[in-house]
Amino acid sequence: MTGIAAVETERLVLRELSEDDFEDIHEFKSDLQVVKYLTWGPNSREQTLHSLRKQIAFQNEENRQIYVLAVELKCTKKVIGNALFMVRDPDFKTAEIGYFINSNYWKKGYGIEIVNGLLYLGFNIFDVHRIYAICDVENAGSVKLLKKIGFRQEGHFIKNLKVKGQWRNNYLFAMLSEEFINRTENVVFKSK
Ligand SMILES: CC(C)(COP(=O)(O)OP(=O)(O)OC[C@H]1O[C@@H](n2cnc3c(N)ncnc32)[C@H](O)[C@@H]1OP(=O)(O)O)[C@@H](O)C(=O)NCCC(=O)NCCS
Repeated sequence: MTGIAAVETERLVLRELSEDDFEDIHEFKSDLQVVKYLTWGPNSREQTLHSLRKQIAFQNEENRQIYVLAVELKCTKKVIGNALFMVRDPDFKTAEIGYFINSNYWKKGYGIEIVNGLLYLGFNIFDVHRIYAICDVENAGSVKLLKKIGFRQEGHFIKNLKVKGQWRNNYLFAMLSEEFINRTENVVFKSK
């Protein structure tokens, strides 16, 4: 599995990144609110460009493990976030997801839509067995989103990740393929 063309949800397109996305991506990667619970950021322009080029290079890797996708609004074509799908075992049976959105677009249901798109990609297209997400215990938006979608809280890790110089506690949330309820009637997958 290498390149994907797109996963379309009701209002969003999750698609491969390109360098043209730089300005939109830098807007949220340089925002302290967005990166508050993340191990990196806020980014300088150089850091955003460096990571974007690295992530674009994943698209051509043999046995690709990491998919960092642009989250594009269908109505304006603006890239309002990133959706991450990371294969965590060589048999392609377990994957970790991640997501972040421009803070001007929070609390409009886009987070739920992104995660539903990633679940569709993982369970219906890539045929993985288990998808998990790790988030800061104080990241109320992410905790609520994952619970609402039906993830099970399985772990509570103490001082697991160093964020902005401080050790942070994390929850691990997971879902198995047999637990996946396809709430993604509107999702369309386009292969390359
Ligand atoms: C976490 C994040 C993706 C949520 O995105 P979003 O588009 O605002 O989420 P949604 O609108 O789909 O909301 C999902 C639910 O969570 C709630 N929610 C969202 N943000 C919240 C917050 N800060 N506090 C409490 N509840 C919140 C919403 O109200 C909604 O619940 P409801 O349907 O009962 O009203 C977004 O806040 C973000 O990008 N944060 C920064 C990056 C990040 O922390 N990523 C996750 C790393 S694990």
